[in-house]
Amino acid sequence: MSTQTVPAPRPAGTENDAPLLHASGVVMRFGGLTAVNNVDLTVNKGEIVGLIGPNGAGKTTFFNCLTGLYVPTEGTVRYQGTVLPPKPHLVTSAGIARTFQNIRLFANMTVLENVLVGRHTRTKEGLFSAILRGPGYKKAEAESRDKAMELLEFIGLDHKAEHLARNLPYGEQRKLEIARAMASEPGLLLLDEPTAGMNPQETRAAEELVFAIRDKGIAILVIEHDMRFIFNLCDRTAVLVQGQKIVEGDKETVQNDERVITAYLGAPLEGATETAASTEADQ
Ligand SMILES: Nc1ncnc2c1ncn2[C@@H]1O[C@H](COP(=O)(O)OP(=O)(O)O)[C@@H](O)[C@H]1O
Ligand SMILES: [Mg+2]
Repeated sequence: MSTQTVPAPRPAGTENDAPLLHASGVVMRFGGLTAVNNVDLTVNKGEIVGLIGPNGAGKTTFFNCLTGLYVPTEGTVRYQGTVLPPKPHLVTSAGIARTFQNIRLFANMTVLENVLVGRHTRTKEGLFSAILRGPGYKKAEAESRDKAMELLEFIGLDHKAEHLARNLPYGEQRKLEIARAMASEPGLLLLDEPTAGMNPQETRAAEELVFAIRDKGIAILVIEHDMRFIFNLCDRTAVLVQGQKIVEGDKETVQNDERVITAYLGAPLEGATETAASTEADQ
């Protein structure tokens, strides 16, 4: 009789076979308002997933539920099979980074310093080491600077490393936010309207940037109003309307869905670019 080792079956939901992000049954209520209503969403390794919907649909609130800014009223959010603790810094250390619909940079810090702030979850050197400025701290600091400069090079802002963030044009501030988020070395990056306020050229460049980020092995979940941007980039797109996911699929599925067309007031999706400027509900 041959002695054969039978591999033990791997329990479902372990790190290797689980989707990167798995949100299930997420509900977020504010008093009587249900901003997010029973939303399921997965993002797999290597994917670019889009999240679209009219203003006030609950897109940003859903991001806030994914990133620990809000504790969902119901539902769970798993990252690589593990339920995420509802604390933003713990979500970041777990591997999810984000940018905000309204830019949140440290205006009076330099471009480089803003990226360095994004690295703090990945540096082991603590407060005491920073105060004492020992060799460990100096080495970690030098490494962080190198990595931050690499990121600035990647987004094309290395020549402005010493500029104050507030002096950057708007489109570059958006890119800097992305670099800062990437500094935490995420496996998944959430982008909330990354092209808002960008001109068409900057928007096309942002598309290239998102592809380049994906090529670095980072999955992306992106909220956008610019349909061309979404459909050029995304492997899959989910549509939220009044807190509910009404459809999810590839470009054709979403574009041809009657409910989606109705939700956008009958406007042809190709022409929907920038029609729904975000003037409200910025989070
Ligand atoms: N902290 C909050 N308190 C109360 N209502 C909120 C809060 N955050 C968002 N909302 C409401 O939830 C709904 C969804 O908003 P939001 O997620 O910002 O939509 P979107 O990003 O799709 O435009 C809106 O009606 C908004 O006013
Ligand atoms: Mg929003």
